[in-house]
Amino acid sequence: MSDYKNKTAFVTGAASGIGYALTEALLNEGANVMMADVDGAGLAEALAKLGGSSNRLFSTLCDVRDAAAVQAAAKLTQDTFGKVHIVMNNAGVGLAGRSGEIDLKDWRWIVDINLMGVVHGVEAFTPLIKSHGEGGNILNTASMAGHITTEYMPPYHATKYAVVGYSESIAPEVAKYNIGVTCLCPTWVKTNIANSGDARPSTNGIDKDTLTALKQTAELVKNGMDASRLAKLTLAMMSQGRMHVFNDPEARPMIDIRAKALGDDYDAALAWLAENT
Ligand SMILES: NC(=O)c1ccc[n+]([C@@H]2O[C@H](COP(=O)([O-])OP(=O)(O)OC[C@H]3O[C@@H](n4cnc5c(N)ncnc54)[C@H](O)[C@@H]3O)[C@@H](O)[C@H]2O)c1
Repeated sequence: MSDYKNKTAFVTGAASGIGYALTEALLNEGANVMMADVDGAGLAEALAKLGGSSNRLFSTLCDVRDAAAVQAAAKLTQDTFGKVHIVMNNAGVGLAGRSGEIDLKDWRWIVDINLMGVVHGVEAFTPLIKSHGEGGNILNTASMAGHITTEYMPPYHATKYAVVGYSESIAPEVAKYNIGVTCLCPTWVKTNIANSGDARPSTNGIDKDTLTALKQTAELVKNGMDASRLAKLTLAMMSQGRMHVFNDPEARPMIDIRAKALGDDYDAALAWLAENT
């Protein structure tokens, strides 16, 4: 979809950071938006900053871990605006730690939000977008962390790689209904993401190495791209029908490095197979 005017979008994680910026960018393009977030106070504040509820903007409390709550939010969006064209499965959290030391409760928490939250959004909204025949868009927020890895972030990387694979796999199927799939894969954006791991269920402490990595990440996030610039870029890339949205020139070579490493492993295996018939 290249024209957002009078289209309706549902955005998760809309109380803060990238979700808030996507909401604002969509409103500026003339779209209607249903903002959703698990943080009621943050959502109320974000809604007020955007001028409060209107016939083009509403908000709903929604925990993306809860499939029934996402279904209810989808129905509310359709009932409020008549049709829904765009779902932005953007809510997400961070979780760091060393292998063998990460509480399984915390693992399940991040998988439920970062991966299952996206799945719940796609499952609830795709039938509604298909139903009117006008086409639309699915935007799933992954990360550059869904393409390359850093130390001490295994749960975050695992969920973000999963969102990339999931998005790529559904794209051809929904394309038949004129629904584009785009996966947002940014590097450092100035938001509140660095604090999100504090909400993890366990009360386990954080080891020294992970703490150092987290402090570096927080600094990079603080100096990252403005979320509003990323949101405008995202809408432009969605209009172009792009599968992935990247934002950082410095991270660009890492894509080629990973592709080469994969190719080298492939060639090594093929060489072994040829020599060991
Ligand atoms: N900031 C970055 O550098 C960066 C980089 C790559 C990807 N991302 C991704 O961008 C997305 C948005 O994060 P952000 O950077 O704007 O962070 P943020 O913390 O500013 O915003 C995340 C929002 O998601 C909401 N949220 C958390 N759990 C939820 C749940 N269970 N249900 C509904 N809402 C929930 C939070 O309340 C918050 O409002 C995330 O998926 C994140 O992984 C961020």
